[in-house]
Amino acid sequence: MSLSVYYGRAMDAVPDEELIEADQKCARMLSGLACKIVNPAASRPRNVAHEAYEIAARDLELLKKSDIFLVDLSRPDYRYVGCVFEMAHAHIYKVPIIAIVGNTDFSERIFIHAYADFIAGTMREAVEYIERVYTEHGQEKQMRVMHEYFDSIASRHRTIVQDNLVGNRLRGKDELHQLIQKYVSGSILEIGSGSGYWTEQLCNFSNDVVGIELSSPMLKQAIKLLGEREGLKLIHTNFFSDKHLFSKTGNARKHYDCIIVFFFLSLLPRQLQQQAMHRLSKLTKSGGLLLVADSGQVEHETFAGIGRKKLQNRKNLNEEFIIYKEHFNTRALADTISIENFNVIDESQSNSQYPWFVARRLK
Ligand SMILES: C[S@@+](CC[C@H](N)C(=O)[O-])C[C@H]1O[C@@H](n2cnc3c(N)ncnc32)[C@H](O)[C@@H]1O
Repeated sequence: MSLSVYYGRAMDAVPDEELIEADQKCARMLSGLACKIVNPAASRPRNVAHEAYEIAARDLELLKKSDIFLVDLSRPDYRYVGCVFEMAHAHIYKVPIIAIVGNTDFSERIFIHAYADFIAGTMREAVEYIERVYTEHGQEKQMRVMHEYFDSIASRHRTIVQDNLVGNRLRGKDELHQLIQKYVSGSILEIGSGSGYWTEQLCNFSNDVVGIELSSPMLKQAIKLLGEREGLKLIHTNFFSDKHLFSKTGNARKHYDCIIVFFFLSLLPRQLQQQAMHRLSKLTKSGGLLLVADSGQVEHETFAGIGRKKLQNRKNLNEEFIIYKEHFNTRALADTISIENFNVIDESQSNSQYPWFVARRLK
């Protein structure tokens, strides 16, 4: 499937040669990605104030139909007007925004931080991000990187989880333990069970627990911690290509009373988040519960955080670790979950360190 990338940049008062050069550069850099570039500026007459409304409306229509808004804000001292309007619209249209900021101070601006899905220093970084997050081969590569990362931290993972939680509990925030205590019962499925920290808690409330985990070193740590327990099954598998949970025809082999998805969804690009929600809906009994918790902000200890840190410190950029800076918004996910036939019945306060929600699968 070819992606359409709407390209926005400085236009007014920019010499024609510069515009043409920028267009060519963008086309060249995106050429390997099977993208269609939507470049409204290319065919548009300039300085036509009397047709301004028609021009702007036509551009916004094109933007609405695009998969990505790539906006180049890197021209120093330029007063961007059109691009800011377009960013606001892209946000409303739910078109992801990738902003190239160069050496300007845009990377420090609150609204750019809040609404850009990714802030890139250069066109090259932006294109690499598009490749990783929006193309199939990029996503596969990304999943491999993630896999390797979790393999490499498996032996430390439990300590990392504990340190984070203990730190928060001291500040009176062990909400996730309370959440499990309040809602978990019956048959349980945990997605991305990691080194088994939550799995252990879940076993206190159910004797039918299944944990699935992609990284075998992680799984080994969980087995070391939990040992053989009646009613507990830990499965080494990929949630997205899973034969244990789904039949060949895509139907769930079993429906669960309660599914736990802690610190998992934020690792995924958006399309996979949607796919994950769809699969989770299929696996939940009608009337069953889905418990989702994640990091409200990207932390440096996390996988995504490593990518972000490296990106900020560009001199030491290790290409392998550019991960999604796209910040995961648990609240936004809760807002859209009705599409998958869930109804949110409980959720964290806005100041929670680890935002969470509980959703019930409708009949
Ligand atoms: C951030 S860790 C969280 C682990 C655990 N939920 C916790 O909170 O301690 C995310 C886990 O998801 C696993 N994971 C990532 N992608 C997966 C996939 N497609 N299928 C199953 N597990 C996956 C990773 O290997 C990792 O162990």
